[in-house]
Amino acid sequence: MKTLSHDFLWGGAIAAHQAEGAWNVDGKGVSIADVLTAGDVSHPREITDGVIAGKNYPNHHGIYFHDTYKQDLQLMAEMGFKAFRTSIAWTRIFPNGDDAEPNEAGLAFYDEMFDAMRRLNIEPVITLNHFEMPYHLVTKYGGWRDRRVIDFFVRYAEVVFNRYKDKVTYWMTHNEISNQTAMKHEASGFLLWTNSGIDGKEMSVDERIEAMSQAAHYELVASAKAVALGHQINPAFKIGGMVNVAPFYPVSPKPADMLAYQKARQFRDWLSDVHVRGKYPNELEAYYEKTGYRPDITAEDRDVLQAGTVDYLAVSYYASSTVETTTDEPKVGYTDYEDVTNPYIKTSDWGWGLDPEGLRYTLNELSEMYPDTPIMIVENGLGAYDKIEDGEQIHDDYRISYLSAHIQAMMTAVEIDGVNVIGYLSWGPIDIVSAGTGEMKKRYGYIYVDLDDEGEGSGNRIKKDSFYWYRKVIETNGQVLKQQA
Ligand code: BG6
Repeated sequence: MKTLSHDFLWGGAIAAHQAEGAWNVDGKGVSIADVLTAGDVSHPREITDGVIAGKNYPNHHGIYFHDTYKQDLQLMAEMGFKAFRTSIAWTRIFPNGDDAEPNEAGLAFYDEMFDAMRRLNIEPVITLNHFEMPYHLVTKYGGWRDRRVIDFFVRYAEVVFNRYKDKVTYWMTHNEISNQTAMKHEASGFLLWTNSGIDGKEMSVDERIEAMSQAAHYELVASAKAVALGHQINPAFKIGGMVNVAPFYPVSPKPADMLAYQKARQFRDWLSDVHVRGKYPNELEAYYEKTGYRPDITAEDRDVLQAGTVDYLAVSYYASSTVETTTDEPKVGYTDYEDVTNPYIKTSDWGWGLDPEGLRYTLNELSEMYPDTPIMIVENGLGAYDKIEDGEQIHDDYRISYLSAHIQAMMTAVEIDGVNVIGYLSWGPIDIVSAGTGEMKKRYGYIYVDLDDEGEGSGNRIKKDSFYWYRKVIETNGQVLKQQA
């Protein structure tokens, strides 16, 4: 029977803007995450016009990882991590995005961080752009809507690829590029901001689709150029595309519901199609013809996309959604559906559908679509409230059961279904600031960080029960879960 390989990449993943803090230190510029205030489960984060004194910007401090990463990585090593994913804050390297020269202090910072990982035998897995483009590229160019941003990104990629070519092998270009297609999601305007630097909160759905189509195309071209360049700089590089894969289910077997589900899925998957296959899927080309959104896609761009396909597909998986058609017409389009409750699925305290089997299903789907492309799970986890008890203990059995069910689903996909999964990096192995809400109390970690939503607290790190559990999972290459099942 197929099983997880002996060099399977177990570990965890974070992003610079959610952890590092030090937002204006050593020449770092303002990023699009630095102008996001704190929100919560029922109050969206505000996008402010620059940094406004007196507002609470949780990414300005994160968990102070900028100053604590050596000790924090030591804790990851104690759990047996083989790999650790983080991002390079683009604004530490190019503070404005269009600067003539990179910022040496920022480059030196990541030199030391990657050396620290290597000393601990932890493989760095590095995202180039995780929701943190330079804010200046938004104010001056309108974010990814402008073709010139492609060159700024490629220049940034070239600088970091050259600098870290002997320290980093695994890269990915844009985090969760597919998020911005989620037009029926109530946060879709916000997702356009985090992905593309376009404030879509006040836009209509049609306006969002139009803006997204252009911005995402430029992001894909930039990604493909970076992939081709990275392979020239170091042919051993493994450069991935990264997408969120929240599976869709039809609410019923009614043909129109099936079509609505299929259309929702196609719209989610067009970005991974371009990453992996280097070309636009037919139905999206047809959609652009039909709707008249004709993004600026040149013949040269198409060659670039074809020449820069990714080495692996990095995916995040948290939850599934269920859709119901809003029309019985046979011409169901990408957004002719509503999200509805699935009676078979429980939800988290933040309303995310908890669905481990959906992970197996999704991995199968991806393996059918891209049979030759390895998959790395680079995010999966449960955001939950934690309570400190009995002195310094956190009994997070809810987290253990979520992760355990998902890891088992992944192992089944590998062992029974033959899916090629090369790594599992759970999200937020140490508590960090939530990207969606800006809260600290939405915690994912095996390691508790004593900070609250206002950034107050000792900052102390405490090992939760899940810390010891995950260490065992890694030590046994997942076998311990089978004994428990
Ligand atoms: C993914 C992002 O969308 O989900 C992460 O890549 C994010 O940056 C994670 O933190 C979990 O979302 P949230 O909103 O709970 O932080």
